[in-house]
Amino acid sequence: MRTIGVMILLLAGAAMAQAPTFQPVGTTLQLMKAMVIPSSDALFKIATEAPKNDKEWTAVQNNALLLAESGNLLMIAGRAKDNAEWMKDSKALVDAGAAAFKAANAKDVNKLNNISDEILTACETCHNKYKPG
Ligand code: HEC
Repeated sequence: MRTIGVMILLLAGAAMAQAPTFQPVGTTLQLMKAMVIPSSDALFKIATEAPKNDKEWTAVQNNALLLAESGNLLMIAGRAKDNAEWMKDSKALVDAGAAAFKAANAKDVNKLNNISDEILTACETCHNKYKPG
């Protein structure tokens, strides 16, 4: 009987233990400056300056991935401004970034240029609602 009592207590303790959760480190503004702005700039630049070699393509691929994943970071608890429009607008950035990542891996300049419009729309849609000033 005593063993069962101890086991129940252990199980209850395990259920109550907190699993680690996401931990926002920077503000949204810092995330914009560190990740979103530089990575999207690198993609917008392709329209006037296409990547010339594997090294430049790798940089484009990495920037597309960074941009897509930054959309996920915007969604984490503690950074998300609400559980509705903010999440949709962040998801639009993930989707546009993921499409850019796919096109970058295929080294498809035309597709990347088309996706630039989609990326800009994602930026502006969120800013219209949530960016002060
Ligand atoms: C889901 C929302 C969201 C998305 C998507 C988003 N932003 Fe932002 N952005 C913000 C918010 C909120 C601010 C204002 C932060 C503040 O001032 O505290 C901001 C601020 C900025 C600023 C102003 C920085 C400054 O120095 O004041 C720039 C530039 C910017 N974002 C660029 C972008 C670009 C480029 C994209 C798309 C590639 C983008 N953002 C996508 C929410 C978003």
